[in-house]
Amino acid sequence: MNSADPAINTKRHIAIIMDGNGRWALKQGRSRLFGHQAGAERLRGIVEACPEAGVGFLTVFAFSTENWKRGATEVVALTDLFHLYMRREAPALLKSGVKLRFIGDRSGLDAALASEMVRLERETAGNHDLTLTVAINYGSRNEIVHAARQVAQAAIDGQLSIEDIDEPTLAAAMFTSGLPDPDLIIRTSGESRLSNFLLWQGSYAEIDIVATPWPDFSVTHFKACVERFNHRQRRFGALS
Ligand code: FPP
Repeated sequence: MNSADPAINTKRHIAIIMDGNGRWALKQGRSRLFGHQAGAERLRGIVEACPEAGVGFLTVFAFSTENWKRGATEVVALTDLFHLYMRREAPALLKSGVKLRFIGDRSGLDAALASEMVRLERETAGNHDLTLTVAINYGSRNEIVHAARQVAQAAIDGQLSIEDIDEPTLAAAMFTSGLPDPDLIIRTSGESRLSNFLLWQGSYAEIDIVATPWPDFSVTHFKACVERFNHRQRRFGALS
């Protein structure tokens, strides 16, 4: 699916780089984990605000392929936090029509977390009000390599000719297969970079850099981003 044609998707796809947990916590003399815990608490309100804001797809960057460099203590703490959060939030997500999906390389993940992810995807598969995609052990370059290998294998196996390889072929081989491209990417905490997030899918996304750190990012901030997006003129490379 390709949302470069806005007529295809009436429901918006917003992606968020939830940045600033660590700095927010350290500023208060607390641990970085405290910041991640506060960050996890922020997600529910944003998820609940999506349907009314016309958002049908929300994708959040929870853990990147580069985050392993943070050291074992933070990585284990984050893994435990994801696990706890999923178990705690699952009943509410199920009830409120949220379909959960995970993108990223699952091979490097804790086995218990990986099987919880599969279970939640299965349990929420019939929901349609909002697709919440959580990027865990995700990196765009890793995703593109993975997709290229898959397409190359199909060509070697004779299922595909070289001439058949086009943008939809590659898009279908990405972890995000079936999701529309993001319309808007929000990054909290002021840094203006994409950090290896949705590089293929975000080619035509609007970008909103917000100074507020993620643990302070409220529904009001989120609605202000949607409002700013509503006033953007999107040309997709064409003339206005
Ligand atoms: C970036 O802040 C945030 C992360 C690497 C982790 C994001 C995780 C959460 C918000 C926890 C909850 C998520 C789910 C899905 C339950 P940072 O630590 O890089 O902040 P800094 O730039 O200030 O150091």
